[in-house]
Amino acid sequence: MQTLSNKKILLGITGGIAAYKSAELVRLLIKAGAEVRVVMTPSAQEFVQPLTYQALSGHRVYVDLFDAEADSAMDHIELARWCDLLLVAPASADFLGKMNAGYADNLLLTLCLAAKQSVAVAPAMNQQMWANPATQENVKQLAARQVIVWGPAEGEQACGDVGAGRMLEAAQLLDNVQRHFSPGRLEGVNLLLTAGPTREAIDPVRYISNRSSGKMGYAIAEAAMRQGASVTLVSGPVSLAAPAGARLISVESAQQMLDAVMQQASEADVFVACAAVSDYRVDQAAQQKIKKSDAAMSLKLVLNDDILATVSALERRPFCVGFAAETQDVEQYALAKMEQKNLDMIAANRVGDGSGFETDFNQLEVFWRAGRQTIEHAGKAEVAKQLIDLIAERYTASLA
Ligand code: C5P
Repeated sequence: MQTLSNKKILLGITGGIAAYKSAELVRLLIKAGAEVRVVMTPSAQEFVQPLTYQALSGHRVYVDLFDAEADSAMDHIELARWCDLLLVAPASADFLGKMNAGYADNLLLTLCLAAKQSVAVAPAMNQQMWANPATQENVKQLAARQVIVWGPAEGEQACGDVGAGRMLEAAQLLDNVQRHFSPGRLEGVNLLLTAGPTREAIDPVRYISNRSSGKMGYAIAEAAMRQGASVTLVSGPVSLAAPAGARLISVESAQQMLDAVMQQASEADVFVACAAVSDYRVDQAAQQKIKKSDAAMSLKLVLNDDILATVSALERRPFCVGFAAETQDVEQYALAKMEQKNLDMIAANRVGDGSGFETDFNQLEVFWRAGRQTIEHAGKAEVAKQLIDLIAERYTASLA
């Protein structure tokens, strides 16, 4: 199917062994209907001849700044404006560093600076170079400036190492490009999300909290934005950067989380309660630090309001999705919770067996009134993507 017809893609190729995969990418993009032009950095030519890409794309390949200027129909600014997407694949560590710093000492870097449209990069390098904090910092900053980062994948490398750093395969990159251009399934939807733990003060320096890292909630925020949703993320204390483009409201206690959510709830179309909210708080938190004494001490705990149940009880309520983290009888508890809290959907996981809290992996059993679906054990980003697909499907069905 010509999913990319009328799409103009400028493919930037930097110096790396993965440059050979980009030849296949050019072929796949063209087969999908895209018009492709290729720009190479000088060092990319050490790996593959420009002629290869010229033959595949049917256009001359641009290599240096003055090449582009010599082509009066397409100078470097024109070329940057011409495309709907500028994709740098492979993107070397050196290129990412220069791109982040705003260098423009070759044509491709100049185009990255001049591009108004989306810019995506597919990093490819040795795993040690990818793991280096300098590279990580560069990629983080580029992502914060809306540069789309695809990959890298994990696996065996040309140099014999094994780890993260391989460029995504051409078919995977094609898939990402197609997804980039297909309208999101949550376009125009306001999605409100809670994530992370809460902290319940005992005194000014001590609190009660839990092991939630916030990773699942943040991954859901990211996945929802990729599907076009406007995301408001009400988050307890976590050490994660807010996904670029989400509106972040940082809170500490369950009460603050409830207040923030209730302020936003009337605007929300979908509410996803992913936070591990403390069920109890200390009845009267001490105003001053509690002093140690020889006597045993006890804390009186009182129940916190249930944020999710409060939202789902609203007269004009959003589509409500809850989580159930259980150590046993997951299905039974999840279904009971869906009923009790009057939810549209519940995502249940068994905690404590390599998924759930404090790990990068999860697996979910998702229930709604008329069905269920398993989301198999995978990285949280993938699980979040599949959950958001399911939420989009059930939410859309609920409007019909
Ligand atoms: O009842 P339980 O705490 O197991 O329910 C978990 C679900 O309810 C999660 O979606 C969680 O975010 C939400 N919840 C809430 N407010 C609370 C407790 C739980 O929104 N006070």
